Order: sequence, then C-alpha cells, then structure tokens
Amino acid sequence: MKKLFAVLLTIAMILAMTACGGGSTPVSSGGAAPSSPEGAKQVTVGLIQLMEHPSLDEIRAAITARLEEKSAESGVSIQVNYQNAQGDTSTINTICQQFVAGKVDVIVAIATPAAQGAAAAAENSGIPVVFSAVTDPVAAGLVENLEAPEGNITGTSDAIPVEKIFALAKELTPEAQSFGLIYNTSEDNSLSVIAQVKGYLEGAGLSYTEGAVTTSADVQTSARNLLGKCDALFVPIDNTVASAMAVLADEAIQAKKPVYVAADSLVADGGLAAVGVNYTNLGSQTADMVLKIVTGTPVSQVPVEVLRDNNLVINGDTARAIGVDISQYGPNDATFVSSVA
Ligand code: TRP
Repeated sequence: MKKLFAVLLTIAMILAMTACGGGSTPVSSGGAAPSSPEGAKQVTVGLIQLMEHPSLDEIRAAITARLEEKSAESGVSIQVNYQNAQGDTSTINTICQQFVAGKVDVIVAIATPAAQGAAAAAENSGIPVVFSAVTDPVAAGLVENLEAPEGNITGTSDAIPVEKIFALAKELTPEAQSFGLIYNTSEDNSLSVIAQVKGYLEGAGLSYTEGAVTTSADVQTSARNLLGKCDALFVPIDNTVASAMAVLADEAIQAKKPVYVAADSLVADGGLAAVGVNYTNLGSQTADMVLKIVTGTPVSQVPVEVLRDNNLVINGDTARAIGVDISQYGPNDATFVSSVA
C-alpha cells in the first residue's frame, strides 16, 4: 500500500514538475494581473510537510501566506510545489529526491523527519534547505552551530519549555505524582524532549512510565495502558501522537486524568493545558528566512531562529470534564480554548 502510494506520488510529482503546474501554486501573482514586478526573479520552492495535523497545517498556511505577502517587495516571483509525505519515511525521501532532481531553488521542510529527509537528499546539491518547527535541530543532526549554520541548512525551532509545563502541572493538579510519557521513539524531536523530561521528573521526585508508539494507530492502546498506571499523561512535541490526539484526549477524559502537552493544537484537540510557542509566528519567520536566502543572503548568514516566547493555553471544556479548577487563571494569564471536536 505504501509502495503503491510512493509510486503514484512519484508519477504525480513528475507531472507536476515537468508540465505546467500540478501541485505547484504561484504565490506571488494574483489571478489575471500578476502582482510581481516586471523582471522579478522566478523562484521555485519545494515545500514538504511531514503529515497532516493541525499544528503543521497552521505552519504551512503561515509560510505560504507570508511568501505571498512579501515576495513582490522582495523582487521575486515564487512558485510553491507543496507535497505531503503522509508520515511515511520512504515518501519523504521520494519527495525530496524529486525536488532535487527538479532543481528547486530552495527546499522548505516542516517537522523534523521531513527536514532530515530534505537534508539527506539535498546534500552536495547546492540547494539550500530551510526547516520549520524542528524542536532540536542539533540533536536531529541538521546543524551544529545555530548561530552560523555550516551546511546549506537553517530554519526555525520550537523550543519546548519543559520546566514551565511541569510547573503548570504542579499548580493545576498537585496530586499528580506519576506521569505517562507517550511518544514515537523514531522522532528525534520527541527523544530530545523526553530526555529532558525524565531528568526533570527524577529531580523533582516524581515517577514516570513510558509508552512508545510506532504509528498513530498505536496511540489509543498505549494511552489506555498508561492511564491505568499513572496520574497524568505528558505528550511531547510528537507528530505521530499529534495525529491521534483527539482519541488520546477522549481516553484521558473518560479516565478523568489530565494531559499536559507542549503545543496549543494539542489543547484544542482535548489536552488539558500547554505552554508553547505560536506556530503562525514560527511559519512567518520561516518564510522570511526563505525570502532572505532566495534574494542572495548566504545560508551561513541566516542563523537558526529558536522561538522562545511562550503562551499558556488551557482547554476549559477538558478542565470541567475532569474536574480541574482553573479559576486562578484569567484572560491575561492564558488563552482559553474549547475542544474542536
Ligand atoms: N516540532 C515538531 C518536530 O520537530 C513539529 C511540530 C510542530 C509538532 N507543531 C507540532 C509536533 C505540534 C506535534 C504537535 O517535528
């Protein structure tokens, strides 16, 4: 099934890249009257997104909106060839190899596994890679020096404020002494956060149990198992879990246990609370870096941007359903969301 998908995708991409359009959308020209200036430099962006889940979709929307908004004043006319890898590693590689073979001007990769695939495919090709929302670009092997990226790779990072999340857990549910940690061990973005979390919990005298998942289909069983053993769950910035977050949140609500997370989208999907970054801002910053690079700034002069401004996000519906008092937080302290489902 996956193979068939990869083959179909390859065909679709060849069509898209050779003929006139397919998966490509011009973002800098509006309708009949192109808004791009006369003689604007034509630029092709290969945009790969790991999979569909609300946070990655939000990032992509912000990237394309910002490219559209700013390309004319940057003197470029941008064509975006967008491909979604549906969470599959071989599909990531196929997409990125096609981008390289098609000689796109820059590859933009959303989420860690997509960025790793793009880096591997673009190596020695001279094509720059701009990653978006890579939690730990150093641990992921993408860059060694955030300030002056040495390869042809730079991008944005969503640093996870582990201590703030657990301080919040202590405030909201001080009785929670044991945490279930649910994540995909093949996501480097999760491994790096989980290592920090374990260190924190050990230091705070709290216990944990790990629940590894391989695909989003494993999330429900793993969540149920952990909820049977622990007082609360923690979900790092894991794409596999994110794509099944609503199912996980339902299980936790039935068990009347809190789920602490690291992204606002996971709260909208039913988690209790998060401390995390604004992903629309992160997408816009990613697009600004792309514009700098396609207008001639060397990648080594475009430092990695780590977003550190955090917002507290609480799901009022979830709090009510599991009986957690959130009355100490007012509209100035937190963003309140309702479950989207
Ligand atoms: N930071 C994740 C990565 O490095 C991607 C990501 C962005 C994400 N927003 C998210 C993952 C929300 C889970 C939930 O791959």
